[in-house]
Amino acid sequence: MKMEIGVIGAGTMGSGIAQVAAQSGHKVWLFDTNQAALDKASASLYKIMSRLVEKGKMSREEADTVIARINHCTDYQSFSKCGLVIEAIIENLEIKKKVFIALENEVSDNCILASNTSSLSIASIAASCNKPERVVGIHFFNPAPLMPLVEVVPAVQTSKENLDRAKELINSWKKITVVTKDTPGFIVNRVARPFYGEAIRIYEEGIADMATIDWAMKEIGGFRMGPFELMDYIGNDINYTVTETVWIAFYYDTRYKPSFTQKRMMEAGYLGRKTGRGYYNYAEGAQNPEPDKNQVVGEAIVWRILIMLINEAADALHLNIASAADIDLAMTKGVNYPKGLLRWADEKGIQNVLDGLDKLYLAYHEERYRASVLLRQKAAFEQKFYS
Ligand SMILES: NC(=O)c1ccc[n+]([C@@H]2O[C@H](COP(=O)([O-])OP(=O)(O)OC[C@H]3O[C@@H](n4cnc5c(N)ncnc54)[C@H](O)[C@@H]3O)[C@@H](O)[C@H]2O)c1
Repeated sequence: MKMEIGVIGAGTMGSGIAQVAAQSGHKVWLFDTNQAALDKASASLYKIMSRLVEKGKMSREEADTVIARINHCTDYQSFSKCGLVIEAIIENLEIKKKVFIALENEVSDNCILASNTSSLSIASIAASCNKPERVVGIHFFNPAPLMPLVEVVPAVQTSKENLDRAKELINSWKKITVVTKDTPGFIVNRVARPFYGEAIRIYEEGIADMATIDWAMKEIGGFRMGPFELMDYIGNDINYTVTETVWIAFYYDTRYKPSFTQKRMMEAGYLGRKTGRGYYNYAEGAQNPEPDKNQVVGEAIVWRILIMLINEAADALHLNIASAADIDLAMTKGVNYPKGLLRWADEKGIQNVLDGLDKLYLAYHEERYRASVLLRQKAAFEQKFYS
């Protein structure tokens, strides 16, 4: 399925997506309104490719072929022969809509138009087009060349044929695709919220400090990074904004309510690794707190965060956001969870998970701890998510 691919926006995501498409053998047109972004994308691609050559992952000739496949452009006419154009510009609905309207005038009738948006509705972007049935969400994770997961998001207007074509194409790029409903946060950015939110809550209540929570989630929970380390890695500005966007998009469902702790970090400019200071201090020689490696406390922390994550996954399944297998795949391949959450629930016992949530709800009387009705049904009928 070799075709020309268009990418709009040469920033973090667009340059990565262009690389993935070029490595899959496509001629790529990379568009940006900012020449500096295009120059930066070129320089960074050259560096990445050279590193792959040094590591023996490809020959210099192959690397040069990939680089030569990516063509820069500053008008949409270059997209006239593209089979797919993926937009990865600034996260702003009005600007994205304008891009799609202009784009549609230049592409062929059967070109699929995709958005890499993390938080906007695909339906609202599609509504700006004359042929909304060709618009689909294709949500890569950062860094696009390394992260295997891609969420494919049909809008209510998207035709089955175009959804299938998009999915098949992205699969041919050696990515793992999951299909998700066009709802806030799709799968990953919705289901993962408690990983951050509940960890912050545990910290705010003084149950444990950040280092201890991170230690517990890694050593006992088996997660690759602790929540605070991960927030520092993602950037507290980005992570806070995703949380706030999801919370607002869910009509202020208190389950997703952002925290003051993270908001203050953002306001203080303690954004994480990129500013040298976040929850932790990254300055050379800085002293960071040591975890209190108390097994009992650690297990309680992991259990509380885990059951909150399982609750989100169960609720997403209950509302048909995606299949159980795709929800589990999304969390293991999109954010490297050690196990799919629904499979984890089966292993821990759904009744135990439910009891844990009900205990929290009883203690707090907060909506955030309400258990998904699907967990209640499964527990009542002694069913599992996987037979
Ligand atoms: N950064 C992430 O971790 C991540 C992950 C998944 C999805 N996304 C989504 O991908 C999109 C891009 O995010 P990013 O992090 O790559 O942003 P970025 O700021 O790194 O890059 C955006 C690029 O778009 C260009 N641009 C802005 N307006 C434009 C226009 N009208 N026409 C053409 N180019 C324009 C900018 O010059 C810039 O180079 C957003 O929708 C974001 O929500 C981001």
